[in-house]
Amino acid sequence: MRAWRLDDGRQTLALAATGDRLPQVVYWGARLPDDEDLSILQAAQMIDVTGGMLDENPDLSICPEATRSFPGQPGLVVRAQSGTPMLPKFCYHGDDAGEGALTLTYRDADHGLALIFSFAIDPETHLITAKTTLEADAPVHLHWLAAPVVPAPQLSEEMYDFSGRWCGEFQLNTTAWSPGMRYRENRTGRTGHEHFPGLLIPVRGATNAQGEVYGFHYGWSGGHRMVAEELPDGRRQVQWGHASRLEAGAATVFETAPLYMVYSNDGLNGCAVAFQRHLRDRIVTWAKPDAPRPVHYNCWEAVYFDHKVDVLKDIANRAADLGAERFVLDDGWFGQRDDDTRSLSDWQVDPRKYPEGLHPLIDHVHDLGMSFGIWFEPEMINPDSDLHRAHPDWALGSEDQTLGRQQKALNMALPEVRDFIYDRMAAVLRDHDIDYIKWDHNRVLPMPDAAQTRGSYALIDRLRAEFPQVEIESCASGGGRIDFGILKRTQRVWLSDSNDAIERLRIQHNAALFLPLVVTGSHVGPRTCHTSGRVIDISMRAWVAAQRHMGFEMDPRELTEEEARVLREVTAWWKTNRDWMAGADILRLDSADPAVLAEQQLCRTGDRFVVFAGKEDTSRQIAPRPIRLTRLTPDAMYRIELINRGTAHHLSRGTPELKSTPITVSGAWLMTQGITLPWSFPATMWVLEGTLTDKKER
Ligand code: GLA
Repeated sequence: MRAWRLDDGRQTLALAATGDRLPQVVYWGARLPDDEDLSILQAAQMIDVTGGMLDENPDLSICPEATRSFPGQPGLVVRAQSGTPMLPKFCYHGDDAGEGALTLTYRDADHGLALIFSFAIDPETHLITAKTTLEADAPVHLHWLAAPVVPAPQLSEEMYDFSGRWCGEFQLNTTAWSPGMRYRENRTGRTGHEHFPGLLIPVRGATNAQGEVYGFHYGWSGGHRMVAEELPDGRRQVQWGHASRLEAGAATVFETAPLYMVYSNDGLNGCAVAFQRHLRDRIVTWAKPDAPRPVHYNCWEAVYFDHKVDVLKDIANRAADLGAERFVLDDGWFGQRDDDTRSLSDWQVDPRKYPEGLHPLIDHVHDLGMSFGIWFEPEMINPDSDLHRAHPDWALGSEDQTLGRQQKALNMALPEVRDFIYDRMAAVLRDHDIDYIKWDHNRVLPMPDAAQTRGSYALIDRLRAEFPQVEIESCASGGGRIDFGILKRTQRVWLSDSNDAIERLRIQHNAALFLPLVVTGSHVGPRTCHTSGRVIDISMRAWVAAQRHMGFEMDPRELTEEEARVLREVTAWWKTNRDWMAGADILRLDSADPAVLAEQQLCRTGDRFVVFAGKEDTSRQIAPRPIRLTRLTPDAMYRIELINRGTAHHLSRGTPELKSTPITVSGAWLMTQGITLPWSFPATMWVLEGTLTDKKER
């Protein structure tokens, strides 16, 4: 019997194999004792055989094999170059187990195939990273390759995954487990608003703050497939990989993207914190790791395509006065881009709008103490563009394809396309002092193709290598390309085109299951939201942006003096707190009131936190219900201050203590009774600061 285990302080993942067969995950959950005998676990977890079954139950291995009568979806579907289906049966070839890492190699000699599985566990973030590679002696066609397959918990009623739309990213779906499968497949060719590749499987009774949860994320930007399947015998499996048939050509090597997995014994937050920390501390490469995240100003919703240098300078003055530290020039500066029908791929400054080039505007922005960022949509081309006229064959897809936002995608698999776009972008970056790119991707592909995603990655990697000081924001009509694959090469996501603070509150709340503050862009939008028509008070708009990487996107000329004062004040608060908040954990709070979305950002040292309690809607009951905090020390005392208590409305007539003064209370009280806030209007946010005062000895 062969067995292996990966451990950290929280969890154990144990694998064991019958003879030379592919191993199964025989245990994944709370940490096991070091001397646990894995051969006993292997034998003991085996399910019984009765009527209507084979004489031995096929293994739910890390790549379930059709050839071993596996009664569910196989982990590999492959054909020979002739098109003949291959039915391999893999046997042990070798293993390599190091500290927190494991590589297993299995071969099928008859078909000349090898599977290589790799696992690594991070002792600090608790994330397990797993990947499968297929190697073939002769080129083969790949239809489906799963990253290492794991069983799902039995004591779970349901699973949560994500869908969404433009201006409505990170919507949680709840699906009950039942025989058969939940099959998500994203065939759009980009991560998509509709298909964030994440899954959370709560064990019965789990909430944000307590209980066991299993979390998954597939780090790939080209479209994924997820299978969560319950077999007739009751076992459950979870598979992740690229969308099926994403590889167009025959090849000798294929690999999945990394699958990130974690077991939590303290609720959804245990998964969220693992993903947040791992992304921030292990995946993202920061241009200036120690520099604070600058407050952004983005001009899109102020001027759209109507660029006038004097107006932009005036806006920059006002943005700097409000506290902005980086000015991002959005779409409209290149080619003849007067609307969204033309010029994508003509990445040269428009001399009609910028007769002296971009330098006068950039110098002005720098003189105001702000850095300068610029918008590109590198993978795209309008039929009405110089490049398309010269090279119509560089566009991806057929001539009669349906356009998306009047544009086509470029074929990023072609080196000459990548070279051309690289040269144009590099010229802009070389000629100007620019430290930031907003990198957009506004349409789905005409057909999905893994080579396109690899081409995009290669272009970004090349630019990053030459311009390591330039940060990149991943945008795709808002949050259409958010995943750990793109975030390996970018530093921020434009979470949503919705600057509606109420919509944003929920999008941010759900996105925090995976994303930390530092990568999550959030801007203060116009008074009347351009995508929802809703009029939202500046205080709510400002505090919602202050929950993440803060910025502004409205036309500052519309601000009243009072609005500007509030915005300045909240921005100053954000700057004072951003250093510790950058490393904090975002913890979703279990709210007793469905109208209130609350979160607690807890400093890594545990000695300070901020709670944002946002009211999406009017509550059903009259008075606010208490909100329980989390992850505090029960016998420590905390000073709690409602920092915006001055904004209480006169219809709040009572005297809850927090309305007039800070209170000092124990962690036990805060986590059990919870905080009772003053009555408030919908579309408002209470903000509480907490500080550890002393630790009492029991
Ligand atoms: C996309 C982005 C917007 C803006 C426009 C510009 O829609 O999501 O923020 O940059 O493109 O065309």
